[in-house]
Amino acid sequence: MKWILFFGALIGSGISGREKCFGDQVFRINVRNGDEISKISQLVNSNNFKLSFWKSPSTFGHPVDVLVPSVSLQPVRAFLKSQLLEYSVTIEDLQALLDNEEKERQHNEGQERNSNNFNYGAYHSLEAIYHEMDSIAQDFSGLVSRVKIGHSFENRSMYVLKFSTGRGSQRPAIWLNAGIHSREWISQATAIWTARKIVTDYGKDPAITSILEKMDIFLLPVANPDGYVYTQTQDRLWRKSRSLNPGSSCIGTDLNRNWNVSFAGKGASDDPCSEAYHGTHANSEVEVKSVVDFIQKHRNFKCFIDLHSYSQLLMYPYGYTFNKAPDTKELDEVARRAAKALASLSGTEYRVGPISTTIYPASGSSTDWAYDNGIKYAFAFELRDTRHYGFLLPANQIIPTAEETWLGMKTIMEHVRDHLY
Ligand SMILES: *[C@@H]1O[C@H](CO)[C@@H](O)[C@H](O)[C@H]1NC(C)=O
Ligand SMILES: *[C@@H]1O[C@H](CO)[C@@H](O)[C@H](O)[C@H]1NC(C)=O
Ligand SMILES: [Zn+2]
Repeated sequence: MKWILFFGALIGSGISGREKCFGDQVFRINVRNGDEISKISQLVNSNNFKLSFWKSPSTFGHPVDVLVPSVSLQPVRAFLKSQLLEYSVTIEDLQALLDNEEKERQHNEGQERNSNNFNYGAYHSLEAIYHEMDSIAQDFSGLVSRVKIGHSFENRSMYVLKFSTGRGSQRPAIWLNAGIHSREWISQATAIWTARKIVTDYGKDPAITSILEKMDIFLLPVANPDGYVYTQTQDRLWRKSRSLNPGSSCIGTDLNRNWNVSFAGKGASDDPCSEAYHGTHANSEVEVKSVVDFIQKHRNFKCFIDLHSYSQLLMYPYGYTFNKAPDTKELDEVARRAAKALASLSGTEYRVGPISTTIYPASGSSTDWAYDNGIKYAFAFELRDTRHYGFLLPANQIIPTAEETWLGMKTIMEHVRDHLY
């Protein structure tokens, strides 16, 4: 059962009224064929049991993960049994994970206030991330600048860090994107770690040094600032933007269905209450439009990497069709090398392939848009993990995740450096 508890003004700037979900669980359900996929989809979409997908069905029969509120546990178990659907419980006590994460975050905030040090092994508020971006830009002013590319629906600034060693504004460039889905906290955390890694390693690591000799890197750590703030103040599992939908009481658009590429096609919903709602028209969301305008004005992006979680996947276009992208052979080869480099650190295994068959069909996504707009090296990562924590990856996995992901991203960027077109 979900209720809102108001603790009033608590510790520092911390959380007050975040939704509680005592007794909620996450089920992993095996689906073996189209029939079982449609049974599960109907069950979730009917909204009778207030279920939501953590991992949506793919066409290729990978298991789905479903959040089951405590009041629905009995009927859902009964349904699964009656339909002979196999399942296991991947998260027994969702609220315990949430409480623990929040406790750690509050504790860390206190420590950071005292030490004046940004702890890369912790999750942060938007404000703290923005502040750290500013510090990096100040400390490495010859290499980095903080650029405002626009603002969110609720008028929060959208900042990118621009890493550049050269003059002129049209050098070939790489776009690193994170946090388009606000609840995927490991992506924002990996992005800000990556910013620090780039400035630390520039001049020391020949790979990043040579990449930056030829190209600029633009890093957007929080592509959905309103959603991110909402996950920390109201609902940890919020995915979409926070824009209002005329004629509906449901809020938000899926920012990764809102790009101008096969808009409103496969894998997107026209229901404003859906987590995959595509919005009223392509680029209807100011967060997407801001990135699109920036990239189009710059005109020389060669690589676009979008960071998500979870599932450990490294994907390339297309999501909107099962047709192969013209550069499939090269993209697949690069992605396989990147996944191998990633795994070399601690053995974390990634599956590699096109979006449509590796995760599920999805239209209007950033990666497909980049690719169809002349950015050949377009990739999407789904970071850790595959099962135990899902979106609630413990903070002690931030640095290991960021470190291994960096090896994968660097492999891609080196390939881009050597294959400029
Ligand atoms: C949005 O924020 C900017 C400053 O970041 C401010 O100048 C502007 O007035 C704000 N607009 C609205 C509609 O609140
Ligand atoms: C979407 O792209 C098409 C070209 O493919 C263009 O004609 C159209 O104006 C674009 N829509 C928006 C909203 O940018
Ligand atoms: Zn995502």
